[in-house]
Amino acid sequence: MDVLYCQGKHQNNRRHIKPPFILGNEFAGVVVESSSSSSFKPGDRVFGGALGSYAEYIAVEERLVRKIPRQWTNEQACAVGSSGAIGWGCLVPVGQLKKEQSVLVTGAAGGLGVMACQIALALGARVIGLVGGSEKARVVKGLGVETIVSYNNKGWEQEVLNHTAGEGVDLVFDVVGIVESSLRCLKYGGSVVIVGYAGRGGVMETLQLNKILLKGASVKGYVSNSKVSPNLPSPLLHQAIEFEYRSTYQYLHETEIWRTWSPCSIGD
Ligand SMILES: NC(=O)c1ccc[n+]([C@@H]2O[C@H](COP(=O)([O-])OP(=O)(O)OC[C@H]3O[C@@H](n4cnc5c(N)ncnc54)[C@H](OP(=O)(O)O)[C@@H]3O)[C@@H](O)[C@H]2O)c1
Repeated sequence: MDVLYCQGKHQNNRRHIKPPFILGNEFAGVVVESSSSSSFKPGDRVFGGALGSYAEYIAVEERLVRKIPRQWTNEQACAVGSSGAIGWGCLVPVGQLKKEQSVLVTGAAGGLGVMACQIALALGARVIGLVGGSEKARVVKGLGVETIVSYNNKGWEQEVLNHTAGEGVDLVFDVVGIVESSLRCLKYGGSVVIVGYAGRGGVMETLQLNKILLKGASVKGYVSNSKVSPNLPSPLLHQAIEFEYRSTYQYLHETEIWRTWSPCSIGD
């Protein structure tokens, strides 16, 4: 996202985010100043999402800030806060992924993909990770994903079908912008959740709609609720964190996150 922003190729650059602006969408750090009525005090460790996060200091509305649970480092909070909520939002309430169903995670070694793989595994789903090379494959294997497909192989969609006994996956989590390929990998009646266009270089995909009909597919878009909070959809974040507590997330397992999650951090 940051790379697309700095190239001016993200879809938001057409209307909402235009130069001059400071890059960065997620931050973690220490409060240096707050209003007397604020529930955050100087010295509190906090994380959140707002454009301009690469700056040394950032002034943000209170609703965009959450306290960092005691057991998390700032780096973990920064990495998990937004991508955890998005992964959860796409796979669970929107994608309706269930135990033992299969999911193709595109961009599996990327920021969102790494979290989506872990959430899907913790749900008990069968995960196929789509990556661009052996180094990325190693990263995704390290998360516990056994089936990895490289998009550098011509006809990789057939490989996905082969891994599902020719049937196709129940769900595709698409951060790349490959809906046509996703439909080829899909089981009849399956779903594609479109999350991003990381692979499109700013040029949107066009699609013949009969391909959706022929697969009896559902194609859904996911966007974090920008009115409530650009990168921290609070109820989803809270659900994701409760889930993380009970699951085996790489970063977060065996922590007591929900107990240390202070009321002001639960959100609205
Ligand atoms: N909907 C929302 O609410 C929301 C929120 C945040 C971000 N996003 C969007 O989600 C997208 C992903 O964000 P991110 O932070 O995960 O990005 P990222 O860390 O850069 O990861 C992008 C992934 O895309 C893969 N990729 C690139 N070109 C590809 C291609 N041609 N075919 C297959 N895979 C390809 C890369 O795979 P390899 O590295 O293996 O090559 C990479 O892992 C961005 O477009 C971002 O704007 C959406």
